[in-house]
Amino acid sequence: MQKDANSFHRILDTFQDFYIRTTKAKVHIIMAVHLFKKRTYSSVYQKYMVPVSSEILNIIVSFVKEKTDGRPLKMGLDVGCGTGRYTLPLAPHFEKVLGVDISESQINVAKQHTTANNVSYMVAPAEKLPMKDTSVDLVNAALAAHWFTTDEFFDETIRVLKTRGCLAVHGFSPNFDIEYKDLSHDLNVVLSEALDTLSQYYDSIVEHMLCQYRSIYEAIPLKDKEWITDIPVRIQMSVPEIVGLFQSFYMYQTFMEKDVKGAEEFLIQTKERFQDILGEEADSVQLNINMKYYCVLACKH
Ligand SMILES: C[S@@+](CC[C@H](N)C(=O)[O-])C[C@H]1O[C@@H](n2cnc3c(N)ncnc32)[C@H](O)[C@@H]1O
Repeated sequence: MQKDANSFHRILDTFQDFYIRTTKAKVHIIMAVHLFKKRTYSSVYQKYMVPVSSEILNIIVSFVKEKTDGRPLKMGLDVGCGTGRYTLPLAPHFEKVLGVDISESQINVAKQHTTANNVSYMVAPAEKLPMKDTSVDLVNAALAAHWFTTDEFFDETIRVLKTRGCLAVHGFSPNFDIEYKDLSHDLNVVLSEALDTLSQYYDSIVEHMLCQYRSIYEAIPLKDKEWITDIPVRIQMSVPEIVGLFQSFYMYQTFMEKDVKGAEEFLIQTKERFQDILGEEADSVQLNINMKYYCVLACKH
């Protein structure tokens, strides 16, 4: 009898664990669909998201070339491709590149910005990739894997990758700092207060970004894998671009949904505080932004 009760509780625990994982995953898919279906958000995203990191692209392309021993790279797949920001720069390295995203609106913007004729786009979820078995040389996911139901995405990745095909998932930390003449301290006070405000709208997916994809790295069911953290990337941005970048964060979109006025005020006040520090040159000056990227690489053998 005791044995039966233990078995029953074990089954119940397993069911609860499965239920919690499945529900959380569904919540993220619903959130992503809801958030990225907005056309206005796709435009803001395309305009203000930080530029593609050439450092990360070099790391990925070198890894794939090394693992595939110089064989011709036929197919690249960019999953959660958004507006195609990483899909296009991957194009010169592959015969064909396909970008897939769960959001039709993101895919429409991506199609409008496509200039390469070996690139195409399709609406599809990361959990069911529209590719044949063993047909892909690289599966890339830029700033996107934290949205996916990762165990299903990894199963699909392993299914579609050729032998010695590679997976690359990467992103940047939502915390960064500004360097500018002797005003860095004052500018960083404003910046960190703004990031603190946005952090109130963090969801559990931001945890993946804050721990630089440690949990994603650990969950990849491939033996040959690498986790590169704290990759320094420095870019230049103006104050309007920094304020635009806040708008491109999904935390800001959640803020807007909960309190439109508060969210608009937040942008205006943050901009004014930067302007007070920088004076007349505020709108034109380029500030140095120090960011931290991370990248997880894996190879199927
Ligand atoms: C932050 S954006 C990154 C877009 C692009 N990779 C980039 O670097 O700009 C995250 C993207 O993941 C997509 N996404 C979220 N969940 C997804 C899923 N389960 N399957 C496919 N795409 C998904 C969203 O629609 C969104 O376009």
